[in-house]
This record gives sequence, C-alpha cells and structure tokens, in this order.
Amino acid sequence: MIRLHLPTIAAACALAALPLSAAADELDPTGAWSAYSGGQAPLPPMGWNSWNAFYHDVDEEKVIASAQVIVDSGLADAGYRYINIDDGWWLKRDADTGRMVIRTATFPSAATGSDRTSFRPLTDRLHAMGLKAGIYSDIGRNSCGQTFGHGNANNPAGTLAEREVGLYDHIEQDIALYFGEWGFDYIKVDGCGIRGMGADNPNVQKGIYREMAPLIDFDSIAKTDVPAVKDLFAQVGQALVRHNPDGDFLYSLCIWGSANVRSWAKEYGNISRTSEDIAPYWGRMLHNLDSASRRALYAQPGNWNDPDMLFVGTGDFDSDHPAEARSHFSLWAMLNAPLIIGYDLRKATPEQLAILGNRDLIALNQDPAGNQAVLAYDTEDVQFFVKTLADGTKAVALFNRTATPIPVTLTADHLKYAADGEIALTDLWSGEASSFTGEQEFTLAPHETRVFRAAGTRALPGGMYLSEMPGRINVAEEGIDFPEPDPMIHRAIVPWQNTRSNGERPRYTGWGGARADSTPYGQMLRIADREFLTGIGVLANSRLEVRGDGFRRFSAMVGRDDSGSDDGSRVRFEVYGDGKLLGASEWMGLAEPAKPLSVDTGGAAIVELVVRGDGKATRPVPVTWGDAALLP
Ligand code: GLA
Repeated sequence: MIRLHLPTIAAACALAALPLSAAADELDPTGAWSAYSGGQAPLPPMGWNSWNAFYHDVDEEKVIASAQVIVDSGLADAGYRYINIDDGWWLKRDADTGRMVIRTATFPSAATGSDRTSFRPLTDRLHAMGLKAGIYSDIGRNSCGQTFGHGNANNPAGTLAEREVGLYDHIEQDIALYFGEWGFDYIKVDGCGIRGMGADNPNVQKGIYREMAPLIDFDSIAKTDVPAVKDLFAQVGQALVRHNPDGDFLYSLCIWGSANVRSWAKEYGNISRTSEDIAPYWGRMLHNLDSASRRALYAQPGNWNDPDMLFVGTGDFDSDHPAEARSHFSLWAMLNAPLIIGYDLRKATPEQLAILGNRDLIALNQDPAGNQAVLAYDTEDVQFFVKTLADGTKAVALFNRTATPIPVTLTADHLKYAADGEIALTDLWSGEASSFTGEQEFTLAPHETRVFRAAGTRALPGGMYLSEMPGRINVAEEGIDFPEPDPMIHRAIVPWQNTRSNGERPRYTGWGGARADSTPYGQMLRIADREFLTGIGVLANSRLEVRGDGFRRFSAMVGRDDSGSDDGSRVRFEVYGDGKLLGASEWMGLAEPAKPLSVDTGGAAIVELVVRGDGKATRPVPVTWGDAALLP
C-alpha cells in the first residue's frame, strides 16, 4: 500500500529548524493510520484448514466432513467460520487459457460437465452451511509441494507450463477466478516458489520446473529482495480489492517471518506467518509461540501475527496430552493468533471439542480491543502473558514451558493493578473463582497454562498505559537500519530435517523492534538509572501511530535508554496530534535523567510519537517512552 507523507504546514514549519536525521522524511507525521485496513479481519480469523490434518491427501469429502462437525458440534456458533483448503487441490493450469484446473478425482463436485472445473458448487455448499471458504496459492510459479518435493501424489500434473500453478504472472486471472467466479472468501498465499526454485533445486536441474532466481534467501536478509517480495504481495492485495467489491476477503501472507515481513505485513494484508511451520511437538510449538510472543505492537485489528495453525489433537497435543493441548490453545488465544483448527474433526473426542470450543478462551481471542497479550514475566521456564480487554479488565496466562512442576507468584504489578486492592480471578479452564491482594502463589503442573480473567483496581485510574493497548498502536517506522534475526526464539529441531545439520540458527528478522514494557532488545526500560515497569521501548528514528480517540492527554517520561551505547549522540522526542506538533523534548543524550513530556491531545484521533536521532549515532539507539499513557 502506498504510504502518504504529508505533514501539515504547521508541523512542517515547526520541524524546519530541526537538524536532519537519517530518516527525516519517514518520520514526518501523517495524521493518519497507515496499517492495512482492507479485508475482513477486525478480529483474528477462526476456522479450519486441511493441511495439519491431511497434508496433500485432501479431498472434498474430508473438507465437507470437517465442516459438518464444525456446524454440528457448536464450533461454528462459537466463531469458527472459515473452511480453508490448503495445498493439494490443483491439477494444472490450462495450457491455452491459463485457467486453473481443479483435481476432480479428489474434488468431484468441481467437474461441472463443461471443460472448465469450478469450486463454485463447493463454496456454495459451505456458504449454505453458514460458513466461509478459503483457498490456497503461492506467490511464485510453483507450490510448496513442488518446491520441496513433498506430496508428490497430489502435485500438479502435465507439461512444465501446466504445472506452474502459482500466482506469478497470473495474479489478476487467478484472483478473479478464485474470488469473482468461485466465490472464495479467504486466500493463503505461500512463498515457496520465490524461495526454493533456484538453480540448486534438484527438480529444476532435472528440467521438471523452471528456474526462478529466489527472491527470498531464508538465511540472509541481505540476499533477499525485499522490495520485489513486497511488490508481489501488494499486487495480490490490489487484485483482491478489485475482485471483491464488497470487501469480503481475508488475505493471509505465508512467508514464515522471512524478508523482514514482520515490519511490513501490517501494511499489506490481514495475517502474516511469523515462523516456519508448526509441527505436533512441544518444542516446535514453543518455537512458533516465541516467533510472535514479543511482537504485541505489530498486531492490531485488521492485522494479526500468525504463529501458524493449531495442532490440537495430534502428537504432543493429542487426547493423551490435555495439559499440552490446553496450553497450545490458551497461548494462541492470548496472542490473538488466528484460531485455525488443523485436525481431522471426525476423530475429535468430546474433550478435544471442549478445548477448541472453550468460549471463555475464545472470547479473549475475539475481544474487540484487539490487544495481543504482553509478556509481564519472561524466562525460558515460565512466562506470564497479560491481555487488556475492551472492558478494561485483564486476562492473564501463567505458562510453564518445562516438564517439571514450578511454583510461581503472580503480583498486582504484573497486572498493572493496585497492590492494596482486591483482585478477583476466574480460572477459565476450571471456572473456579478466587481472589487475592498483593500477590498470589500457584504451582504450575508440567507444561500447564493457567488462564484467569482478573478484575482489580487499575494502577492508573482513568487512563491507560500504552503498553496495555498494543491494539491501538501501529509501528509505522521502527528505526532499524539493518534487520537482524531474533535470537530469543526457541530453537527447536526442524522435524522434516531432523538433526541433519549442525543446529537451528536464529532466522526471522525482527530483533530490535518496538516492544511493550521492554527495550527493543529485551532489557528492562531504564533512563539514567530510573527503572520503568511500564512503557514503550523503541529505537531512535521511529514513529508510532497511536489511536487517541477517547482520551485528552498524553504523558510519558522520556529519554535515551541506559541499555544503549555511549556514542555521544542525542535524540529528540516529539508528540503530534492529527499531524500537528503538540510538544517535544530537548535533545537528550545517554544518562540524562528522564524528562516529562505531557501534552493536551485535544482528543486527536491519531497521536504520533516520533523520536529523531541527530544522525551521529554509530549503533542503534534504544529510547524509552517510560510510563507512556493516554489520560482522560
Ligand atoms: C508451507 C506452509 C504450510 C502449508 C504447506 C503446503 O509449508 O507454510 O502452512 O501450506 O506449505 O505445502
């Protein structure tokens, strides 16, 4: 999407006297919300997808049977809507017309009697069941099954050209077919064809597929053509708008955290994968969880982090592992992850359906404020996630990542509640009610997640800390010059490679992005030795857009964070309301005490928080909006 940089004249004049920083124009206020607002994702999507249940062995009967269970079991009433067909549906691309041909051996209703196959009978049937329908494609010429050689049985057939089933060079034609003619409501766009069809692909060498110089190098951001990747995904987005005049579509990006997608997906589509595929193993669930869990500021209504689909029902999350299944589900609910079931629901036990259908957990995921849970306590053993709900109350998940029982203490501080007020808890798995004042101990069973609704006296009466409302924040510029992989993500064995390497490496760019209640590199927020339990940590040369409606004031204690290096550079903090400069700090160096920055926003719809560097920094400069809050 095109970003407008149109500062008001007043703001432009106010800034004219300032020294130029490296990214000066990108920091100019826009007075607008620049995250993607197309498609239908005010809440995280919920539904079912064929991949984790059937892989390439998908067929119409299985799809309809799962859809039927979703309706009959009450899961549809609980919010599960999308029935998504993944890889394996396609037969070929017609050599003369370029029109995609469906594999009618497995999707018999697509054989319409004419020479043109159609998914319309299937989507009509799903729509008649009160459901929505999703399809799958690839942004390159070829699919993941073709690229990585899995799923040969249902891989596309025919000549080399007929086997080019991906969107590349066919975006307009395919999107018109899938949405205009076939009536789909959702598309997942994978990226294997632009990742793995280089000259080293064995099937390219054999002449089975056409070579395509990879745009994505999964292990090197420097060798990834980010603008080209963005351009392709933008073209799909534009075609989706053209062929869905009613706007009823959902656009799912699937490039697994590569190409620095963390920083731009929110401008291009509705959900975006943060990692490689989940697998039904505990370590892999941790890996996918971690790829999204510290990115609360990169998700808001319309744009969600996607740590991949649910694996409840299989392997470490099967009916012999209810604690693990509940944890996986609880964590995805708290993170505002899409709740996309990946299980053959014909086999689901009542207990499994009860996990997937837990209305209290679903309500957290579907809370209209859209605040992804923020880490209030973070170690490799135990994590506490806290989510602020639209009614101002909280949900908290206490998560034991280990295989041994662990005693933990939840405090009022974790919840940003007053230490001297009573805090009422409702356990969302047992229904049990309790209360405490100050702090409360629990013992977490191995791999257990306790999830509570919590109501107490807010530590900040009337106002809201910014870190309590990540759903109102868009990180428009994050100040990262050189994207780096995030080293904090649990490095699990990749099941499809096993140990045929010397280990997993940090891969997904995102290290140094804006964080709630943390510096960009995971340190405690601290300005000149003063610690801040709450605030926003970001790098200099950044611009945050904050939805300010409903509030009249913004206040924070600002300064360079102590975690930065002593390079003599200085930063200036600026606050804008609907594009007009409302207030600014002095230029501030490292170790200068935090300065108050409090402005009347006049109820501005968009408050922008800009930090300019003086251009002299030699290293990234963490800066802290300490205690940042919107007030009545
Ligand atoms: C990729 C995606 C998966 C699935 C498969 C299908 O690996 O990440 O979610 O769609 O392709 O081949």
